[in-house]
Amino acid sequence: MAIPREKGLDNSLALLMEGYKYIPNRRTSFQSDIFETRLMGGQKVICIGGKEAAEVFYDNEKFRRQGAAPKRIQKTLLGENGVQTLDGAGHKHRKKLFMSLMTPERINDLIGITSNQWQIAIENWEQKKEVVLFDAAREIMCRIACEWAGVPLWAKELQQRTTDLSAMIDAFGAVGPRHWRGRQARKRSEQWIRGIIQQVRQGQLMPHEDTALYAMSWHSNLDGKLMNIEMAAVELLNILRPIVAIARYVTFGALAMYNYPESKANLQTDSEEYSQMFVQEVRRFYPFGPFLGAKVRSDFNWNGYNFTNGTLVLLDIYGTNHDPYLWEEPENFKPERFKDWQGSPFSFIPQGGGEYDIGHRCAGEWVTIEVMKVSLNFLANRIDYQVPKQNLHFSLVRMPPIPKSRFVIRKVKQK
Ligand code: HEM
Repeated sequence: MAIPREKGLDNSLALLMEGYKYIPNRRTSFQSDIFETRLMGGQKVICIGGKEAAEVFYDNEKFRRQGAAPKRIQKTLLGENGVQTLDGAGHKHRKKLFMSLMTPERINDLIGITSNQWQIAIENWEQKKEVVLFDAAREIMCRIACEWAGVPLWAKELQQRTTDLSAMIDAFGAVGPRHWRGRQARKRSEQWIRGIIQQVRQGQLMPHEDTALYAMSWHSNLDGKLMNIEMAAVELLNILRPIVAIARYVTFGALAMYNYPESKANLQTDSEEYSQMFVQEVRRFYPFGPFLGAKVRSDFNWNGYNFTNGTLVLLDIYGTNHDPYLWEEPENFKPERFKDWQGSPFSFIPQGGGEYDIGHRCAGEWVTIEVMKVSLNFLANRIDYQVPKQNLHFSLVRMPPIPKSRFVIRKVKQK
C-alpha cells in the first residue's frame, strides 16, 4: 500500500511554522496515522502516531537509534553519543546504569531534598515584590539535581549552571541564537562536569556510593574499561539537565491550577490520589517533547505499508497524547480521566513509551512525577499568592514552549 505523501521537496518550514501540530495536523488531513514527507534538507521521513504506531516504534527488532538524532540536537540537548543513541547490548548495559539510580530509597531521598529546597526558597519569597515562577523553579531544580546527584554546587556558580542547563533544553527546537546559546552552554557544562569527575577519579572528591556522580565516575563499559571522561560527563548531564527541565512542568502545573481553579481546590483537599492524577494530566495535556526519531533497522511491513532499512521515522508524542481515539475530549484538562486509567505504555507517552530497561523510555519518569508532586503541593498547600494580570499564553510553535510571562506571582505568604 502506498503511504500518503505530503507534497514538497522540503517541508521543514511547515514544521517550524506548525510546531507541535505539524504531525497531528497531517494525521487529521490525511485521515491516517502514517504519512511520508521530506524534512531537514529533503530527507525522506515517515511520520507515525497513535498507540499502535508507538508499539511498533518501540520494537527493537524493527528500529534502531544509531544515526537517528541529528547532530544539532546532540550538540545542544543530548550530548554526543550518549545513551539515547545506543542500541542492543550496549544500550541495555548503559541503561542499567541509569536505572540503578532510580531505587525506591533514592527516590525517597529525592523527595526529601525537593521538599527542603522548596522550603528554603519560599522563605525568601515573602520578602520579594514578585517571583517569576519558571525562573525560580529552574534554580530550585538545579539545586535539587546537584544535591541528589552528589555534584558540588557553589553559591556563586548557581546562576551560571542553572542558565546553562536550561539553555540546553531551550535549544532543542531552535534555529539561530537560541541554538548557539545551547551549544555554548553544553560546552561549558561538559567542561565543568569533566572537572568534577576528574576530581573523583583522582580521589580529591568522594561522593556517596549511591549517587549519580559516583556511578558515572566509576562505570565500566561492556569491555570492562572505565567509561571515558567525556562520555561520563555527557551521561551525568543526562541526569542533571532533565531534572532542571521539570521546572517547565511545574510552571505548567501552576498554570493549570490558575486556569482550572477546581483542580487547585481538589489538590488542597484530597491531595494524595488527586495529586497523582493531576501530575499525569499536566504531562499529557501540556506540550514538551514533540516527537521522537528512530531509523528502520531492516525492511519490514506494518499494516500493509513497507518500511525500508535506513528510513527516518518520527513518532508523534504530542499528537498521541491528544489523540481523540485514545482520549475522551483530549483538549480538555481533566485529571479525573486518570482515575481508573488502565495504563498503556503506548498511549500515554510524554516521556516516551514501552519499557525502561530494554527500550529508550525516559529513565527519569518516576523522578519527574515525584518532584512534580512535591513541588505542586508547595504551590497548592504551603503558600498563598496572587497571580497579577500578565500574558500567560504559550505557543505551540515554539519548541519547547512556556507561558510568555513565565508565570509571575505576587504577595507570597506561607500558610
Ligand atoms: C529519555 C522526556 C525528565 C533522563 C527521554 C525521552 C523523552 C524524555 C521524550 C526519550 C524517550 C525515547 O527516546 O524513546 C522527558 C521529560 C522530562 C524528563 C519531558 C521532564 C521534564 C527526565 C529526568 C531524567 C531523565 C528527570 C533523569 C533524572 C532520561 C534519560 C533518557 C531519557 C537518561 C534516555 C533513555 C534511553 O535512551 O534509554 N526523556 N524526560 N529524564 N530521559 Fe527523560
